Amino acid sequence: MTSKLPLMLLLSAALAGAATAAPARPVSLTLDATKPGPVINKHIYGHFSEHLGRCIYEGIWVGENSPIPNTKGYRNDVLAALRTLKVPQLRWPGGCFADEYHWKDGIGPREKRPSMINTHWGGVVENNHFGTHEFLDFCELLGIEPYVCLNVGSGSVQEAMEWVEYMTSDASSPMANLRRAHGRDKPWNVRYLAIGNESWGCGGNMTPAYYADNYKRYNTFVKNYRRDLRIQRIACGPNEGNYEWTEVLMKNVGNRMHGLALHYYTLPTGNWRGSKGHATQFGEDMWFATLQRTLHMEELVTRHSAIMDKYDPQKRIGLVVDEWGTWYDVEAGTNPGFLYQQSTLRDALVAALNLHIFHAHADRVTMANIAQIINVLQSVILTDKEKMIVTPTYHVFEMFNVHQDATALPLEVQSPDYEFGGKKIPAVSVSASRDKAGKIHLSFANCDPNTAATVTCTLTGVTPKAVRGRVLTAPAINTHNTFAAPTAIQPVPFTGATLAVGSLQVDLPAKSVVILALE
Ligand code: AHR
Repeated sequence: MTSKLPLMLLLSAALAGAATAAPARPVSLTLDATKPGPVINKHIYGHFSEHLGRCIYEGIWVGENSPIPNTKGYRNDVLAALRTLKVPQLRWPGGCFADEYHWKDGIGPREKRPSMINTHWGGVVENNHFGTHEFLDFCELLGIEPYVCLNVGSGSVQEAMEWVEYMTSDASSPMANLRRAHGRDKPWNVRYLAIGNESWGCGGNMTPAYYADNYKRYNTFVKNYRRDLRIQRIACGPNEGNYEWTEVLMKNVGNRMHGLALHYYTLPTGNWRGSKGHATQFGEDMWFATLQRTLHMEELVTRHSAIMDKYDPQKRIGLVVDEWGTWYDVEAGTNPGFLYQQSTLRDALVAALNLHIFHAHADRVTMANIAQIINVLQSVILTDKEKMIVTPTYHVFEMFNVHQDATALPLEVQSPDYEFGGKKIPAVSVSASRDKAGKIHLSFANCDPNTAATVTCTLTGVTPKAVRGRVLTAPAINTHNTFAAPTAIQPVPFTGATLAVGSLQVDLPAKSVVILALE
């Protein structure tokens, strides 16, 4: 089967079920560098941090007096790992937590801050030691753009309005002066604001029409306090395939928002009430199901975008995939409310597929945030007291960050499917872009755990002299890093790519993610 898809190539052709060490299957690919597509917004590579489990406390923040090496209370190992990753933005304080967060409880001397119960996540007591200053200073330290979610569910318009003034005003105004009294003279550059989180669920169980009215009410009072800072307002969007929500929001809110937030998680079993599936102990059935459910993102983005196109043909409003990633059963012996899970090679494939889908829709998808950055769901970092490891998902984000703000390039493909249990998905996904320096990068994901692929790529409009690359793969589908074996899976130099005149051949191992640079 031949298909033309900008950037993402979902490869399909009938083939029998995979067998161990099956011969590599041919894939043909055409890259046309003379026809640039949209820019892949770097904000597609964003992250999410919530007061949930050990994401903030222990993950990011240990406090100045901790024996864990830190800079102003932020752990040094995490700071270093995140610097390498090039995190464009970080969403905070939730999630469901955002709609019960009262920001004034999180400023001033820490020992005087009131506590609260984190009702959503384990019912633990939140001491508010990590608040507005701690979050925004953390972002500033790393050059990350903060993305703050306002409390619409249980807060007030006044509270939201005052928070925005506190964070962004440089006037001699009451909230800016309160900020100064707490030791921060200059305002922070908070460019992204969400007006509530999951207002259809934990954020207030609202109907789309009721939320649309609420959005307009809050939005009226979210002011731009500075000429040099135009706040990007992101509305609560649909849960998965709730197309009615998108329709109502686009119709009733329209140009009053800059982004509409979609949430979609990958559960191997697809079951929210029973077992979601194990993070590390699974067979090929759950490997296949996880990747198949991940690819559902393509349909969600396509259909929500089509509704947005009706009301916003100029694509002024971004589709923001605000929360995405795998959601498994928690690790044995951990608090079920803390959502702590391990991450394997399977998660690396999930990350690559989702990022490729976002690239392919770069004309509409302007931001995405994987859930969540540390110790929660599909994290890029896991910690255990003073120890820290990075996950296979971290490696994909690091390998693929060359696509950030690069121009998407169109691809054409002919290739096989990966079949399992009578079902099939495209075996290989590919994306290509040209960065600002003119260098072309190609990223590949081979979903088939048993069969390698030999990709023959015809190159138009580019005559590279050399190709360099890295590959992420492992002996088993569930290979993962642990605190005892922190580098069980990590990228290594890739030697499977060869150039000829006008073409490139890539020997893609089974169950692998590859990044190539044409030089
Ligand atoms: O990421 C965990 C939770 O998932 C978030 O708090 C919520 O927005 C979503 O349901």
